Amino acid sequence: MARRKDRLEEWKFEIENSYGVRVTAIVKDLSREEAAREIYGELQEKKIAVDQMVNNAGAGKMGRVVDADPETMQALLHLNVVSVTLLGRYFGRDMEERGRGRILNVSSMGAFLPDPWSNVYGPTKAYERFLTETMYGERKGENATVTARCPGPTKTGWARNAKFAKNLDEVAREGFIAMQRGELVCIPDADYRAIRCLAAHLPAACQADLIGRWQKSLIGQE
Ligand SMILES: NC(=O)c1ccc[n+]([C@@H]2O[C@H](COP(=O)([O-])OP(=O)(O)OC[C@H]3O[C@@H](n4cnc5c(N)ncnc54)[C@H](OP(=O)(O)O)[C@@H]3O)[C@@H](O)[C@H]2O)c1
Repeated sequence: MARRKDRLEEWKFEIENSYGVRVTAIVKDLSREEAAREIYGELQEKKIAVDQMVNNAGAGKMGRVVDADPETMQALLHLNVVSVTLLGRYFGRDMEERGRGRILNVSSMGAFLPDPWSNVYGPTKAYERFLTETMYGERKGENATVTARCPGPTKTGWARNAKFAKNLDEVAREGFIAMQRGELVCIPDADYRAIRCLAAHLPAACQADLIGRWQKSLIGQE
């Protein structure tokens, strides 16, 4: 599921030919208010039950919150927060009723730290992590689970060319394994686990100032 039909059709063709399965591609803009309900309705109509759901679609924008274009901000909130929550509500409930299912929410290491100069990206990723932890705490049994993958920079999207970014296949594989195991939060890298630990002990104002100065310089602001 994504917005670009041509890419979805390419992936559908590739997966069907490689794995001998039938793929249903749904073109949908998840930044629209009604998107999650429409997807649920379309799959119900087609009588397709979802056993495994990966909430990967997400986006960010650089810049200060108070300078952001309100409409762009609202679209980001719908994509990263509202759709992820409603998809979890619709499909998570069905998984629970069937007594099996896995949800993987692709959050970020940004979920553990203040994220100045990144518009609302960091706060939305923190929400996604807390949503996952909330749903995990409410789960019934061990067979319908929810996992948050919290990667650092990955060679895709904005970080495609960053030297320190991790390979996409590796990040996806680690998330998939954690999802099948029903783990709550997936952070396999020791350095990121150390950052998470440090973030829990450094005063928030100190983190916000340090990261703010660093990210401001990254985007070339005075
Ligand atoms: N790259 C990183 O360094 C990094 C680090 C931590 C976490 N993450 C998280 O990883 C996830 C994937 O990010 P990425 O870096 O791989 O980004 P990406 O390369 O831009 O891919 C984003 C995917 O989401 C889809 N998408 C974007 N907006 C959408 C919308 N409004 N409706 C439906 N589909 C939409 C895109 O397809 P269409 O454009 O065709 O819609 C694309 O398939 C995100 O949740 C991001 O927060 C990324």
